[in-house]
Amino acid sequence: AASTSTRPDSSAHLPPTYERLYNKYSEVRRVLGAQRLTLAEKILYSHLDNVEESLLSNTNGGRDIRGTANLKLRPDRVNMQDASAQMALLQFMSCNLPRTAIPASIHCDHLIVGERGADDDLSAGIRTNHEVFAFLESAAKRYGIDFWPPGAGIIHQTVLENYALPGLMMLGTDSHSPNAGGLCTITIGVGGADAVEALVGAPWELKAPKILGVELTGKLGDWASPKDLILHLAGLLTVRGGTGYIVEYFGPGVETLSLTGMATVCNMGAEIGATTSIFPFTAASARYLEATRRGRAARDVALFQELQGAGAGEDAFFKFKADQGAQYDELIQIDLSKLEPHINGPFTPDLSTPLSQFKATVQEQKWPDKLSAGLIGSCTNSSYEDMTRVKSIVLEAEKAGLKPKADFYITPGSEQIRATLERDGTLESFTEAGGIVLSNACGPCIGQWKRIDGVEKGTPNAILTSYNRNFRGRNDGNPETMNFLASPEIVTAMAYAGSTTFNPMTDSLTTPDGKEFRFPPPRGLEGPETPFEQGRAVFGVASQPPDPSVKVAISPSSERLALLEPFDPFPESDLTGLRVLVKVAGKCTTDTISAAGPWLKYKGHLPNISANTLNTAVNAETGEVNAAYDLDGSRHTIPDLARKWKDEGRAWLVVAEHNYGEGSAREHAALQPRYLGARIIVCKSFARIHETNLKKQGVVPLTFADQADYDRIAAGDEVTTVGLYEMLRNGGQGEVSLRVTKKGTGEEFVIPVRHAVSQDQAKFILAGSALNLLARG
Ligand code: F3S
Repeated sequence: AASTSTRPDSSAHLPPTYERLYNKYSEVRRVLGAQRLTLAEKILYSHLDNVEESLLSNTNGGRDIRGTANLKLRPDRVNMQDASAQMALLQFMSCNLPRTAIPASIHCDHLIVGERGADDDLSAGIRTNHEVFAFLESAAKRYGIDFWPPGAGIIHQTVLENYALPGLMMLGTDSHSPNAGGLCTITIGVGGADAVEALVGAPWELKAPKILGVELTGKLGDWASPKDLILHLAGLLTVRGGTGYIVEYFGPGVETLSLTGMATVCNMGAEIGATTSIFPFTAASARYLEATRRGRAARDVALFQELQGAGAGEDAFFKFKADQGAQYDELIQIDLSKLEPHINGPFTPDLSTPLSQFKATVQEQKWPDKLSAGLIGSCTNSSYEDMTRVKSIVLEAEKAGLKPKADFYITPGSEQIRATLERDGTLESFTEAGGIVLSNACGPCIGQWKRIDGVEKGTPNAILTSYNRNFRGRNDGNPETMNFLASPEIVTAMAYAGSTTFNPMTDSLTTPDGKEFRFPPPRGLEGPETPFEQGRAVFGVASQPPDPSVKVAISPSSERLALLEPFDPFPESDLTGLRVLVKVAGKCTTDTISAAGPWLKYKGHLPNISANTLNTAVNAETGEVNAAYDLDGSRHTIPDLARKWKDEGRAWLVVAEHNYGEGSAREHAALQPRYLGARIIVCKSFARIHETNLKKQGVVPLTFADQADYDRIAAGDEVTTVGLYEMLRNGGQGEVSLRVTKKGTGEEFVIPVRHAVSQDQAKFILAGSALNLLARG
């Protein structure tokens, strides 16, 4: 294949995004020659700050930088949801810039509680969160950021409908941002501090991911859906399996999927810890662009591909798919024709059970038979295809005289999809069946669910959702709610049965007139026959140039918003006299470190939200939840002891097991421990985003070189770092260990630890935080 591309014909007009992509990609090709690239690499490397330096930064002359090089990237835009945007904007404000360096948007979706239905819930949410929305709106006006008000929709759906374009690279301050990978973008979930780097115009750093290829063949059967593909993959790969990888789908099966189905699969790539996921551009992608009134973009993509094709070899130019023969680090093959519906959970998205075995598993595990609620929609599964397939189930049940036995909730992902479903009569069929349509917001997906069915906190019960995540307490704050994940079709059919042991593919229900009724397979439409409705104008975007005369609204007496104080720099020596605050057993997700639900209201107030720090962590030595012991043996909650030690000037560390910080991009999980006095976290392994977030806030993440050392160190032990300061001064080079002095006995020993601190990260740890460094300019 040729190693250069032809320049676009000057008579043909490409928009600036694609001109930029073209120019960068030409550089990539110049450096890498005819090397076959995966789709993910093409887009990612075309966003490098310095192509040549990055691609040649390894011993193999650019041939294989995956898993080794640190990439400095220039994303095209940043999308922020309201909970994480608060801290991102507070950090951005402290840099004193007049506007954001790249386009950005704010989406008010996380703070609305789901309870009685859209209208009531939305007005209650706006009342309760007025102060925060006013802050976000004023900051958006001042800095020229697009503002999507409460009720406009959930970030990932709105981004897919409005901002995602093939070939773009975006950052999103939410772990399910990779949803936009369904439309052939590289979109990565990050914390607010990363977002701020991009917003101030600094390059954003990422360890070059490895690429996991998933080759799809065949075509989904009647009851199977794209959701089942990712539920099945989560079972195969586990919540850690995708760590350090971009998951790239390819093969003939891809052409059989709808665009929104591909987005669902990418959305839940977060559940396997993947950096992001991506699908190639297909005919379905072009149809979706047309349906969302972006036909122009579909034509730009066609032109872009055509222009580059002229005169170049098949592999040398940029098609929105992998080059033939591109190499994947790992490969999984899935025949969609053989895929059956799956149900995952409870309490973890990777506990995957095929539907045909679910009844037996429920009985074996003694999980509740009664299904108390079925919830569909959200950012994961509220597409036109999902909802029309559900409608077909609802209409069949209606004809048979059946109503759902479990409570049935529907969350539209955006005003656009809601208005379109309303126009086409889909929502009406749900409400006639007794379903409750919630507002276009996260609600029960993020713990913002006020149950009105009398299920008290602490009562074991089972719910089924078509959402993406099911950690303990995730939906209703009740740790005893067993939360299972399935496709919207399966959730709905099982809601009619009111039972977790019902298999809609094989079992029957009895109708009121005593007949046997079996659901026929669901049928739906990929998209609406006429373009999507845009919905009510009040939920439209406010898009404006920056206006420096706008004052950003923060009251000094606010309990919800507080300006940030910079963290202290790293001392000019190793850390001495640290104490282990708590040794955590088992899973320690970002929900564990910084719970959501009622705490979401303090997202913009670091001192107040810190009162939830690690408050659902399990103490490895006592088995208690949220218990920590002071040096005199007195018992405290974990955040109380942390605050006490902060007040006493005692710095501390946490010891934990595997995949510490898994789950989300929530930077509060790093900010809060830092604010309360944590200097290092030592564990068996870290989740990628959280590890980076810790470093950005000046907390050093370390892993045990020998995992058995987890058993040797305990709460209250005193720790001195050895070599840490030197390593930071040497830009991340050098060995680090911990000298441990046992509490009580005074016994001393040394534990070798590992770190993954890059040169830039070393700089901001020394400065106290990334922001301290950025603010210096
Ligand atoms: Fe909202 Fe989706 Fe996250 S509904 S809470 S953005 S998983």
